[in-house]
Amino acid sequence: MEVVITESPEAGGSLVARAIADLVNSRATPVLGLATGSTPLPVYDDLVARFDRHEVSFANTRGFALDEYVGLPEHHPESYREVLLREFVNRVDMPDDMLFTPDGWAEDVRQACHDYDVSIADAGGIDLQLLGVGTDGHIGFNEPTSSLASPTRVKTLTEQTRVDNARFFDGDVANVPHHVLTQGVGTILRARHLVLLAWGEGKADAVAATVEGPVTAMVPSTALQLHPHATVVVDEAAASRLRLREYYREVFDGKPDWQGI
Ligand code: GLP
Repeated sequence: MEVVITESPEAGGSLVARAIADLVNSRATPVLGLATGSTPLPVYDDLVARFDRHEVSFANTRGFALDEYVGLPEHHPESYREVLLREFVNRVDMPDDMLFTPDGWAEDVRQACHDYDVSIADAGGIDLQLLGVGTDGHIGFNEPTSSLASPTRVKTLTEQTRVDNARFFDGDVANVPHHVLTQGVGTILRARHLVLLAWGEGKADAVAATVEGPVTAMVPSTALQLHPHATVVVDEAAASRLRLREYYREVFDGKPDWQGI
């Protein structure tokens, strides 16, 4: 696993955005895995700036979201489809119909989950998957005890995750849905490159467990250790509990191998 420690979320966002722009420019039909939450916003902001400077076009890029809430009214501003349209897709030249999100409004959500994995495979798989991490080590909405081989499926959120996400719902945990559809850990592991981002002291334990802890379904982000090309980009505060952080600085500082092995 590559561990890159950056001086700020903006510096980390810019580093990752440059890698994404290079990838998009080098592929006829690039496929990105898009994450929500506050963590990837510096990446999206930097990609929009690159688009505004005519350095990159997303006209032929397909984007697959990690997850979606179940039970929100359609077009609710906090549905992840709306968040991704607002924070990224509609700020660049990516057509709305090139954004794919699990269908949290489907009558048959199990079928919708299966169809979602098929649509990722039909697109040729995900070239680069952006990931944040929950304070409990969830990726997408794969809560602790998620199978590390899971497909896209319905999950029930833990109280901790609903409390963490209440800030997007007027600060009231009662407004946060209980159920979600999420790419499974197995789905995520099929992407060709995983890039997990984390900023701030609040993520320091999750980052240390992800990178240096034992692989366990209790911390689904530890599944990154099973992937042949995973990059973790963190700021100083999020890196503060990594035992080998001086080693990572020496080996990877500012020069991750975005091409992989
Ligand atoms: C939600 C999302 C995750 C995200 C996590 C962390 O649970 N489903 O994909 O990684 O929040 O959010 P934040 O980046 O806001 O800390």
